[in-house]
Amino acid sequence: MWNTWRKVNEGMIVLGIESTAHTFGVGVVQEGKNWLIADERSKYVPKEGGIHPKEASQHFMIHAPRVIAKAVKKLKGGINDVDAIAVALGPGLGPCLRVGATLARGLAAYFNKPLIPVNHAVAHVEIGRFITGLRKPLIVYLSGGNTLIAAYADGRYRVFGETLDIALGNFMDVFAREAGLGPPYVIDGKHVLDKCADEGEKFISELPYVVKGQDISLSGLLTAALRLLKSGEVRLEDLCYSVREIAYSSVIEVAERGLALTRLGEVMLVGGVGASEALRTKFSLMAQDRGVKFAAVPPKYAVDNGVMIALTGMLAFKHGMVVRPEEAYVKQRWRLDEVEVPWLKD
Ligand code: FE2
Repeated sequence: MWNTWRKVNEGMIVLGIESTAHTFGVGVVQEGKNWLIADERSKYVPKEGGIHPKEASQHFMIHAPRVIAKAVKKLKGGINDVDAIAVALGPGLGPCLRVGATLARGLAAYFNKPLIPVNHAVAHVEIGRFITGLRKPLIVYLSGGNTLIAAYADGRYRVFGETLDIALGNFMDVFAREAGLGPPYVIDGKHVLDKCADEGEKFISELPYVVKGQDISLSGLLTAALRLLKSGEVRLEDLCYSVREIAYSSVIEVAERGLALTRLGEVMLVGGVGASEALRTKFSLMAQDRGVKFAAVPPKYAVDNGVMIALTGMLAFKHGMVVRPEEAYVKQRWRLDEVEVPWLKD
């Protein structure tokens, strides 16, 4: 799939397009000190329930031209200043991915720019490394669709643990929805489950805690919690508190084991769920206990954005990873460990 593109300009500028789930984002970055040129976003928020992929993609189609134009306006010479177009081709929701991919293919072909395929999960990791300054950390990637513990080894990020059923972010949203706490699921940067849990006092010990080897499982916890909720026998705040403690602690346990296994001295939290203060506190305590460095991506860049696609695109571009527009297919299930990351070999 890869072509080789060897001519790389000094002070190179890359435009990145993100459209894997609820956010249509365009980022423009430049090599060097003043690296951030543009960060424009439009987020689709469902009126009820979870993300409807078709509705989200329609939102993208309506707002994408304005978002792209706003980002390009930040460049003196407009799109002519851009050396390459990067696009997240997966993993994500098919209809959403196709909007970003179609626009990126069109821009690359029309303006004769190299097109760089970017894996969304790798992009979460790369913006994390870029901002935190950690070099080869144990990665804990937590979002609506992902719960992964990974680390670099032999040319790729390898997965050391994941969820056996639902992702942590999805778990939190579904519970919040069933409990009548959302949508919206995040208010003033804080998940409604965290807000509710902060008011809890009593830990409900009968809820299941499931860690199997290096993996976690949350579906049993969700079922048990919803059963208790419907029984009306417990306070909602106590249930939120207990559910949060169990879910977060299971992630901490597998992360800690990952650190023991890999003997890495750094742990990095990336992805939208990583914005949770309660979770960050748990991570920082665990890291202190183990004597390792801990850093989390700031909430603004922990959620989906175009800047992370542009930054990763720049790394990939420098290593000759470009794709012909007609071959830039979306890959809904493109796994983190399928992608070469040659920049870490340097
Ligand atoms: Fe994401």
